[in-house]
Amino acid sequence: MNMTEKIQRLKKEKDAVILAHYYVRPEIQDIADYIGDSFYLSRIAVGLKEKTIVFCGVSFMGESAKILNPDKTVLMPDMEADCEMAHMATVEEIQRIKDTYEDVAVVCYINSTAELKCHSDVCVTSANAVKIVKALPNKNIYFIPDRNLAHFVAEQVPEKNFIFNEGFCPVHERMKLLEIKQAKEAHPDAEILTHPECPEGIRNISDYIGSTSGILNYAAKSERKEFIICTENGVRYELEKKNPGKIFYFTETEPVCKGMKLITLDKAAHVLETGENEVQVSEELIRESVKPLQNMLDMAKQREQ
Ligand code: 13P
Ligand code: SF4
Repeated sequence: MNMTEKIQRLKKEKDAVILAHYYVRPEIQDIADYIGDSFYLSRIAVGLKEKTIVFCGVSFMGESAKILNPDKTVLMPDMEADCEMAHMATVEEIQRIKDTYEDVAVVCYINSTAELKCHSDVCVTSANAVKIVKALPNKNIYFIPDRNLAHFVAEQVPEKNFIFNEGFCPVHERMKLLEIKQAKEAHPDAEILTHPECPEGIRNISDYIGSTSGILNYAAKSERKEFIICTENGVRYELEKKNPGKIFYFTETEPVCKGMKLITLDKAAHVLETGENEVQVSEELIRESVKPLQNMLDMAKQREQ
């Protein structure tokens, strides 16, 4: 029995379901029951019938799944799989902003720790941030932790006053503008598709800016045949699978999220077999951090109607 067959057997035995983000390795994407961007995964995590969720992603994703499903067991194949940006804001600064500004909403990118969520009004992902911020009644928006996504949203919602925080995703922040321009010179017909975690210089030369799913949808619908993809390289697998005949280029220095790539088939099988690496979130933390997450899900649903 190979590793994939072993995982399928264990999933049935343990009444488990596997969720995976598009940034994980292709072989992990292949064993996932549900694969998507952060918003899709947080939505799908609610209402699953299985007792156990194996979350193939980074820690804030497993943590959010646990907060939204406190009665389920959530297992992480690797407890070290973390998102650096999730820690790039502080409770002290949130408090200072709340004391300084009246009528301020703390908008927390889902890529954040449960502790930061506890002190926030609403969570957002890159797929729904513009819509949710637009719908908030508050004039002042303190957007944590990502400054790049914050600036992208601020450009779309000029009627609000943004207070920025200096967090960033190292993978998107360090993509090289020069390498993107070189790729465009080599492939002038290619459209540039960019995640909003990229800095302004990259966003400014892009044809489309959106979440991981947004990029996938855009590439599928576009009449063009070539694309330069400015996001983590795990997305290449789904892009190529769904679009035979189209070509996807990445920058020469490929953007790789170290945390996401820690997930392997062996580790997924191991946690399924042993029940190790269970996500633990205290009752108090769940009680407080579920509010902004639930607000996001509710507001996103209203927007869809
Ligand atoms: P998405 O919201 O597109 O899934 O982005 C998550 C992420 O971690 C981007 O770096
Ligand atoms: Fe975090 Fe960046 Fe990795 Fe996304 S790509 S999980 S934001 S470190």
